[in-house]
Parts: sequence; C-alpha cells; structure tokens
Amino acid sequence: MGRQLEIIAQEGPLPVWTALRIEAQDTANAEPGLASLVNATILAHHDLAGSLSYQVARKLGDQEMRAMSIREMADQAYASDPTLLTKAEADLRAVMERDPACKGYLQPFLFFKGFQALQTHRIAHWLWTEERYTLAFHFQSRMSELFQVDIHPAAEFGAGIFMDHATGIVVGETAKVGDDVSMLHGVTLGGTGAERGDRHPKIMKGVLLGAGAKVLGNVTIGEYAKVASGSVVLKNVPPGCTAAGVPARLVNCPTCEEPARTMDHTLPREVYEDYSI
Ligand SMILES: CC(C)(COP(=O)(O)OP(=O)(O)OC[C@H]1O[C@@H](n2cnc3c(N)ncnc32)[C@H](O)[C@@H]1OP(=O)(O)O)[C@@H](O)C(=O)NCCC(=O)NCCS
Repeated sequence: MGRQLEIIAQEGPLPVWTALRIEAQDTANAEPGLASLVNATILAHHDLAGSLSYQVARKLGDQEMRAMSIREMADQAYASDPTLLTKAEADLRAVMERDPACKGYLQPFLFFKGFQALQTHRIAHWLWTEERYTLAFHFQSRMSELFQVDIHPAAEFGAGIFMDHATGIVVGETAKVGDDVSMLHGVTLGGTGAERGDRHPKIMKGVLLGAGAKVLGNVTIGEYAKVASGSVVLKNVPPGCTAAGVPARLVNCPTCEEPARTMDHTLPREVYEDYSI
C-alpha cells in the first residue's frame, strides 16, 4: 500500500474509486514503466464506469470486434444497470479482504483474471437479459479464450464474488451464485448430463468452493457451507456444513445456531440422512 493511501486508510475505508485512483497515482510515480498503463486505464477517467469499460475493452478487443465497439457496449451496460458497478466494487473489496496475496485494488483491477472474467460475464449477462444472445456468446467466448474461465451468459451471480486464480472455472446456464461466494480455480458448476431444463447448481450466500470442486446437478449448497478442494458434490449441502471427497460426504456440520453457547456435541442425524452416512 502506498504511503498516501495508508495515511488516508487510517481514517476509515475509502470509496473504491478514490482508493483505486490514489493507488494508480502512487504506481505511476514509483514505476514509470507502468505510468502509461495506469494513466490510460484509470487516471484518464472520471469514474469507475469509464475506467472499467476501458479496461474490459482493452482486454477483449480483437480483429473480429474492436475495442471501441466493446467499450460502447460496456458503457451501455453500466448506464442501463448501475448495479453492475456496485457489484464490481463489491468484487474488488472481496479480493482485498479474502486474498492474502492482494496488496490493493489496482492489482486485481489490472491483472487478476478472476476479477476481469467476472466483469466480462456481468456485461455478457446484461446482453443476455436484453436478448442480444449472439453478442453475449461473443463475450463468453472471449472470456474463455483470454482468462480460461467459461461462464454461460445466462448464469446469475450476486455481488462480492471472489474467483481466486480462476483458471478452469466452468459455470453452466441455469447456475445461480449468491452474494459473497468465493471459488478457487478448477471449480465446475455443471449438469450431470441426465437432466434437462433447470439443471445446474444453486450456490447460496457466503459459500466457499475449494480448488477443483465439482458441483453437479440442480443441487443447493446452503449458506456459508464449504466444499473441500477436489470434491464431487451430487447432493444438497445444508447451510454451514462442509462436504468433502468423491463422492462428497458431510465432514463437518453445525449442530445448532450457537454450539459454543449450548455446548451441543451431538450430530444431527437429519442433516446427514441425505448422505446415507
Ligand atoms: C474443506 C476445507 C474448507 C476445510 O473445512 P473444515 O470444515 O474446516 O474441515 P476440516 O479441516 O475440519 O476437515 C474435516 C475433515 O475433512 C477432511 N478434508 C478436508 N479437506 C478435504 C479434502 N479436500 N478432501 C477430502 N477430505 C478433506 C479432513 O481431513 C477432515 O477429516 P477427518 O475428520 O477424518 O480428520 C479445506 O480443507 C479446503 O478444502 N479448502 C479449500 C482450499 C483450497 O482450495 N486451496 C487451494 C489454494 S490455491
């Protein structure tokens, strides 16, 4: 964290856009080699919308669709649905809070492909809701080529999502991901191949999906549950529980709302029943 940002941060958390500009200015001063990048991407803009649309366009533009066209679509999306920007701010805060390797907002904004893939998906999803399906698929395709993250444009994501490393994340059409979810690389939210229609997982608020976790079918992972790395989950996971293994079994579950207060040591049979333990 730069000295100026550190001093201001002592007086309470700054708005994301203010903090991002201070970090960008500090970086331009300290690293002349990065000055033109941070100027063009952040310091030349008046607000997060302008900066984010420039960054998305800079990454996604190619021979088939130039950066200028991508930027126009991103600008349209942010003007039409400002919640895309509040979600992007929450995503940046999520990276800062949950990734011990993250030193500020600038790093994920410019370089972390989980954050960038998610902002690309948010625009693709907006295009999908506007029934501009082919264009939405173009955004999905570029996201997959650039960031190795393949999310169907119809999939729904809440705010404050953290995709760590992100390589190999695959999310199917009817999946829903709630607020404050963290997922590591190699996570699949897919179908079993045996179902049609609404066939993908529903991930509730605050869930942690470990690296390589495969959640298959229209199953629900309850609030604040965890799926251990490398697990294959085929059944609902109750709120607060941990599922691990192939196929996944429940390995940890809260037995009541406040176990520390009641000193409740029992294992509630009903939450394990679905797992035939
Ligand atoms: C599951 C996890 C979140 C821990 O959750 P927890 O509720 O605190 O679980 P615990 O550590 O108490 O472990 C409970 C049991 O599950 C087992 N377990 C934990 N992770 C497991 C995994 N990935 N696969 C299989 N079993 C696992 C433990 O060995 C333990 O078994 P035991 O009771 O027989 O000793 C953690 O192990 C995990 O997988 N985190 C993801 C980390 C990750 O993806 N890292 C990649 C960084 S790049």
